[in-house]
Amino acid sequence: MDWEKISSEAKIELLQVTDLLSLEKWRISYLGRKSALALFLRQLKDLPLEEKKIQGPLSNKVRQSWEKMYQEKNDDLKNNQIVSDSWDHTVPVKSALNGHLHPLTLMAEKVVSVFEKMGFEIVEGPEVEDDYHNFEALNVPANHPARDMWDTFWIKSDEKEKNLLLRTHTSPDQIRYMETHQPPFRILVPGRAYRHEATDATHEMQFYQIEGLVVSEDITLANFKNIIEESVRHIFKKDFKIIFRPDYFPFVSPGVEVDISCFKCRGKGCRLCSNTGWIEVMGAGMVHEKVLTNVGYEKGRYQGFAFGLGLERYAMIQYGIDEIRLFESADLRFLKQF
Ligand code: DAH
Repeated sequence: MDWEKISSEAKIELLQVTDLLSLEKWRISYLGRKSALALFLRQLKDLPLEEKKIQGPLSNKVRQSWEKMYQEKNDDLKNNQIVSDSWDHTVPVKSALNGHLHPLTLMAEKVVSVFEKMGFEIVEGPEVEDDYHNFEALNVPANHPARDMWDTFWIKSDEKEKNLLLRTHTSPDQIRYMETHQPPFRILVPGRAYRHEATDATHEMQFYQIEGLVVSEDITLANFKNIIEESVRHIFKKDFKIIFRPDYFPFVSPGVEVDISCFKCRGKGCRLCSNTGWIEVMGAGMVHEKVLTNVGYEKGRYQGFAFGLGLERYAMIQYGIDEIRLFESADLRFLKQF
């Protein structure tokens, strides 16, 4: 055995070792049970006596020097631990906290995908609105008592006549779309809305609505009823009881409120549904003629329906949540469940 040659190879290889894993490889190849040195030491006893006397101490010296080299390198690496070198792949780790989508995002994606399949185009509008689009064009002129339905966050601005505000609903986007498009169309407008009012288990100051608008020459309330029933069936995959009842909104005539039977008490009556057994999920109706003429459509030519659904209400029904304020609470105990 040319121990000198092998030793110098071993030294060169050891110089290239920079982490514990490759050091272990080095050890196995030079000092391991199947290494040339180990094999040689095992065969030593079979050598003639004379040979043994020379080779024995020699190979033992080689082994000692390699063990020393190994030890030194090992200490060296451990003392100058570079993080990546000291990585022990076998130590159990705490599982990482994975990010995931917010329940309202999940719900919005579901609603949007169902309406998209029904041929609705998705559009968006601004959260900072002007009085004209948020109220006036929707048949809610200044000083109209119906303005009390929407407690408004007004924005201080220099442009006095513009009267900027945070949109109180997504209905202004009906106007924005109709101003630039001719019927027939079906649109869906998801977005955030704001109300300057006290919060409780079912009301928030900021919340999401999804507005729908379908205008053509021959649209009726029966079409609306059918679209809503179908969409609810596809969104919740359950046969919920739905009722349509008359309601008042200045921009529709007739106006409708849509309720879904309360998921918490199953219609018996509880705090969540104010003992009615029903949860209101949207306002809707046939688009008021005033609104259609306000955007410049020829009088009497088109008809349509519009609706504005409360995304949080949908999510509460879908996930069985009885407190709307949890959505914006950033409480991980709540969010981690989705
Ligand atoms: N914008 C109304 C609200 O936030 C809801 C609504 C009612 C939307 C009737 C509509 C509608 O599109 O036709 O209170």
